[in-house]
Amino acid sequence: MVERSENISWKNIFPNENRYFETEKGILYLGDALEILKDFLDESIDIVITSPPYNVDLGNNKYHKRPYDLYNDNREHHEYIAWLKEIFAETYRLLPRGGRVCINIGDSKNGAVPTSSDVIQFMKEIGYIPYTHIIWDKMQIRNRAAWGSFCSPAAPSFPTPFEHILVFAKETRKLQKRGDSDLTKEEFIEFSIALWRFPPETRQKQFGHPAMFPEELPYRLIKMLSWIGDTVLDMFAGAGTTLVVAEKLRRKWIGIELSPAYCAVTKKRIAELQSKLF
Ligand SMILES: C[S@@+](CC[C@H](N)C(=O)[O-])C[C@H]1O[C@@H](n2cnc3c(N)ncnc32)[C@H](O)[C@@H]1O
Repeated sequence: MVERSENISWKNIFPNENRYFETEKGILYLGDALEILKDFLDESIDIVITSPPYNVDLGNNKYHKRPYDLYNDNREHHEYIAWLKEIFAETYRLLPRGGRVCINIGDSKNGAVPTSSDVIQFMKEIGYIPYTHIIWDKMQIRNRAAWGSFCSPAAPSFPTPFEHILVFAKETRKLQKRGDSDLTKEEFIEFSIALWRFPPETRQKQFGHPAMFPEELPYRLIKMLSWIGDTVLDMFAGAGTTLVVAEKLRRKWIGIELSPAYCAVTKKRIAELQSKLF
C-alpha cells in the first residue's frame, strides 16, 4: 500500500513512468490499466467514469466491422469478467469514502449474455454499494436489423437499443467533502431521472476509434456526481472523451489507454480544446 503525503502538487502524487502527455489539469498514461493503477496512491481519485470493452467481438460481429487497435474483444466470458473484477477491485483502493464509480456497459447477444448483471454482482463482491442504474436510450430503434423468427414466437430476438450506466459508491452514497457545483437547476431535474435519451457518438470514423461514447455521457455524470476541481479517472480512455469533458468542466483528470494511436487522438482533442479556450 502506498501512503499519501500532504502538501505536494496534485500531479506529483501520480507516477512519472508511462506518462504519454499531460496538461495542467490532467495526465494520460499509455499502457495496461491494471499495471498502471497499481502504482496510484490510495484515495487519489474522486470519481471513475469509464466504459470497458464489451467483449462483443468488435470487428467481427454483425454490427461492428472495425476492431480495436490492439485489444482483442473476444475473450471467454468468465475470463473477461474476472479481468474487469480485478481492475475495479484496484479502483476501490483509489477512492475515498463516498467516492463513485460509473461504468457504461452493454449486454451482448441481444441480452442473452447479461454482462451488466455480472458487473453488478462482482462490484458488490468487491464491496461497492450500488448507487443507481441508469438506462441510456440510444434512440436507435429505427436501425433495427435483427428479428430472429419474424412474426413467430419460435425464437424472436430482442435487440437492445440501450446501454447501462451503473453507478457505485464506496461505503456511503454521500460525498464526504464539500465543494462547488456547476450543475444548473434544469440539468439536475433532467439528469436525475435514470432514463437518459441522447444519440451515440457520430464521429468515430473521424477519431479512428470504433467504440466511443458521446460527450453527453461523461458530461452528465461529471456534473451530477462531482465537485469542480475533483479528480476523474478513466482507465479505458479510448479516444479520450471523458478526459476532454473533464478538461472542459474544470475537473482534474487521469486517463489510461493501451493503444498509442488512441492516445494520439486524445492529445490532439485536448490540444484543440485548449486552443479554443485560450
Ligand atoms: C469502449 S473503449 C472506450 C472508449 C471511450 N469511452 C471513448 O469515448 O473514446 C475501451 C478502450 O479500452 C482500451 N483497453 C483495452 N484493454 C485495456 C487495458 N488493459 N488497459 C488500458 N486500456 C485498455 C481499448 O483500447 C479501448 O480504447
